[in-house]
This record gives sequence, C-alpha cells and structure tokens, in this order.
Amino acid sequence: MVTGAAGFIGSHTSEVLIRDFGCDVTGIDCFTPYYDRSVKEQNLNWLKEQSAFRLVERDLSEDSFVDLFTGADAVVHLAAQPGVRDSWDEFDTYVKHNITATKRVLDTAIEAGVPRVVYASSSSVYGDSPVAPTPEASPLDPRSPYGVTKLTGERLCTAYSYERGLPTISLRYFTVYGPRQRPDMAAQRLIKAGLNGDSFTMFGDGLQVRDFTYVGDVARANALAATVGNFTPGEILNVCGGAPVTLADLVQTVEDTVAKPLNIVRQGVSVGDVRETRGDGSRANEVLGWKPEVSLSDGVKYQVANLTG
Ligand SMILES: NC(=O)c1ccc[n+]([C@@H]2O[C@H](COP(=O)([O-])OP(=O)(O)OC[C@H]3O[C@@H](n4cnc5c(N)ncnc54)[C@H](O)[C@@H]3O)[C@@H](O)[C@H]2O)c1
Repeated sequence: MVTGAAGFIGSHTSEVLIRDFGCDVTGIDCFTPYYDRSVKEQNLNWLKEQSAFRLVERDLSEDSFVDLFTGADAVVHLAAQPGVRDSWDEFDTYVKHNITATKRVLDTAIEAGVPRVVYASSSSVYGDSPVAPTPEASPLDPRSPYGVTKLTGERLCTAYSYERGLPTISLRYFTVYGPRQRPDMAAQRLIKAGLNGDSFTMFGDGLQVRDFTYVGDVARANALAATVGNFTPGEILNVCGGAPVTLADLVQTVEDTVAKPLNIVRQGVSVGDVRETRGDGSRANEVLGWKPEVSLSDGVKYQVANLTG
C-alpha cells in the first residue's frame, strides 16, 4: 500500500517497489487541490501501464479503506498536505491531511492486521537545529505549523508502536528533488524559470543550506523500510542526500545544466524557512543499508531532462 501514490514521492516509491523490489502496489490518493490534478495524473503515467499497480481514489481523513489495507505486507504512508508557507493560514487543512489521516491510517493498519507502517516524516521537525550534521536524537523544534503536524504524525507512529504493538518506521526526508518535483518547490521553479526565460523569486539571501536528496534515493529508502527484515518498532531515520549545498549553489547548478543565466528576483525570508538543514544519515545506513547514490549535478540533469522531454 502506498498512500499519496499520485504525488511526487509516492509515484516514485510505487515505481521502485514494482520495478526493483517485485511488489504489487495499491495506491491511494484523493487528489487534493494543493497542486493541479493533471500534474498528479501525469505522475502516474508509467504506473497506469503496470498490471502490478492499481490506484484507488479515497480520502484517508474521512473515507473507509480497511478493505484496501487487508492483506497488505506494508503501508508506506506518504499522503499529506505539504509545504511550509501555506501552513500558517490553512492550518485546518494541515491538521486534516497530516494528523487526522495519519491517525486513521494507524487505526486501520491495526484493524486490518498490517505488519508495518512506514511514515513520511520531515527534516522540518528539527527546526533550526544547533547541531549539524543533525542526528535523529537532536532536539525537535519545528518552526512552522507544517513541521508541527509532521512531528505529531511521527509521535503518533511511535505511540502506536510502543502502546499498541504496531511496528512503524518514520523516515525524516531532507529536501527532496528530482523529476516530477512538486511545482511549488524551489528546484522545479528554478529549472522552469531557466528553461522558459522567466524570473525566479528567491526567498532570503540564497545562503540557506539544504541537504538536497534525490527522489530515486528517497523512494529506495521507502522500499527498503517497507521490506527490511529487522528493525526496532518506532524506529526513526534521517534520509538525507549527504552533500548539503546553499540555494545559491543550486541556482549555479541549474544555470550550468540549462546553460543559461537565471533572472533572480529577491524577496525577504519566508516565515518558518530555517537557515540550515543538514542530516546525519549514518543510522539509515546501519538499519536499512541505505546511502544516497545520486549527486546533485546528476539529479538536476535528470530533473531538467524530465521537463524538456
Ligand atoms: N518533498 C519533500 O521535499 C518532502 C520532504 C519531507 C517530507 N515530505 C513528505 O513526503 C510526503 C510526500 O510529499 P510530496 O512532496 O510527494 O507531496 P505531494 O503533494 O506531491 O504528494 C502527496 C499526495 O498525497 C495526497 N493526499 C493528501 N492528503 C490525502 C488524503 N487525506 N487522502 C488521500 N490522499 C491524500 C495528495 O493528493 C498528493 O497526491 C508528504 O508526507 C510530505 O510531508 C516531503
């Protein structure tokens, strides 16, 4: 089971589970309007041709889905309302899709007897961490309502593992990029601006550091977490690219790849955007045998190639 299967990371995860891990995948998605449905439909292009895949349209925050969970070997729970900026004003939507839906996924996993749930957490749970690279045991201090809802989902997972006997693994992804990246995310906006000759609005001074993580690497971490033999229920792992760079470095990489200078328009720092996220990925390596494999320059090349056909 992959929730949020029509999304950016969900579609890649479903592909890796089918192509590289030999799984049958049922995807659930309700096509929230956070971005255009047609983009999500396109994310599913390859999956729609696979007999090992089916997509069922349901809203995890209100519909029943125990029939879909029954018999599943694992649930990879990626469905959520993403994005830091909107979460200040649209808090109810974030509570609905990130907290209520996650609680219902966990209850339904127990009801259906699903042996494990993998939860998509986020580096945003750390806030502005005083320690870099940041290990999992660092203080948690989310700086946006989005981060608070993702941390609540993670806490629900550990509570269900400790108190209700449901094995969960939470993966804290650090800024994920690559083909089919969400239209609101920086790399996708940058590349589109570069290709179309439009301006790119950069929030802040460009010196904020992000541990960019290629989506294929994240999908492989999800698939490993869904299938690995031994793990401690309630496990929490950083999934990070291992080569943190500034937003300005990303701009340079995109300029080099599209072979054009970009027209950057600067705006103030977006409230809730932290200065630096840089993960310590050693524990994911120990537990899952996972390491990032795709460099930023290769990943940006793949993302550009996806947009230019
Ligand atoms: N993209 C990143 O850099 C990043 C970083 C850290 C964590 N995450 C987490 O990874 C997950 C996937 O993110 P993404 O970037 O692929 O986002 P996305 O918006 O592309 O995908 C999420 C999908 O979930 C679906 N969905 C949302 N609420 C639902 C509900 N109630 N019922 C059924 N479907 C629902 C949406 O329609 C969407 O297709 C999210 O949990 C997000 O918080 C993403």
